[in-house]
Amino acid sequence: MIRKAVLPVAGLGTRMLPVTKVIPKELLPLLNRPVIEYVVDEIIDSGFDSLIFVISYGKEAILDYFDVDLGLKSFLRDRKKEVLLSLIEEVEDKIRYLSSIRQKIPQGLGHAVLMAERLVGNEPFAVVLGDDLVDSDVPCLKQMTETYTVLSAKTQGHSVIALEEVAWEDVSKYGIIEGEKIEDDLILIKRVVEKPPLEEAPSNLSIIGRYLFEPVIFDFLKKIPKISGEYQLTDAIQAMIDDGYPVYGYIFQGKRLDTGNLKGFFEATLHYAMKDSSLREVLRNFCSKLL
Ligand code: G1P
Repeated sequence: MIRKAVLPVAGLGTRMLPVTKVIPKELLPLLNRPVIEYVVDEIIDSGFDSLIFVISYGKEAILDYFDVDLGLKSFLRDRKKEVLLSLIEEVEDKIRYLSSIRQKIPQGLGHAVLMAERLVGNEPFAVVLGDDLVDSDVPCLKQMTETYTVLSAKTQGHSVIALEEVAWEDVSKYGIIEGEKIEDDLILIKRVVEKPPLEEAPSNLSIIGRYLFEPVIFDFLKKIPKISGEYQLTDAIQAMIDDGYPVYGYIFQGKRLDTGNLKGFFEATLHYAMKDSSLREVLRNFCSKLL
């Protein structure tokens, strides 16, 4: 049973500047909920109960969002705003065990994950990136934990990483893998390359921000070199593979929405508006007048 999920949310969000100068990218609203809440819902719906946020200066509001605001609650209660009160309580109740640790100086995703080592301890855990949303019938992380459990019967010390086929022109935005197909949705990964130029990409299978790791990943995160000021998680994954630990790529079922750039964020907004019965017609009518 994997219970702990690490959410690295310390990044500066430069791809969404200028708004991210004052608002953490994780709190940008998709309709009336912050992006991070969609990710937290997926984690909770997948059976995890302990969420570890790796934050940085100015990101405290992410934790506050999931915390109990007694002042707001009594204000709403006094004014008999029951519907709003239950809306607030639903968010407050989501995370059973919430903890955080600070990455004081940005040093890459690998370093952010390593910051969570003490809080994770010696057990398998998930790493979930807040930019990547997956809309699916079965939550993406749940699909992954089920795959992890099935694999546990035949192997040990293994990791599972979610993969998605992307357009070739997008390969240099992501970690890209090379591997051997084992089943339709399962690949044994041999090589991972972080944001390769198109001509060097070994495939168009990209790593999305969902990983299940054994705690041994921390040993590799401590060994990898710092390149251009950053420790890359991808380098630790490659080092783990080279040392004989099996790393599986799992091609999940669902729609991935990359909210880390303006185009993807806009698409995600439209995607969730179309799923909302009260907004679908508004969007359709508005667009039909525009076009
Ligand atoms: C990170 C990882 C990359 C992965 C991507 C998924 O990149 O380093 O391997 O494909 O997340 O969103 P970032 O988006 O932090 O630059």
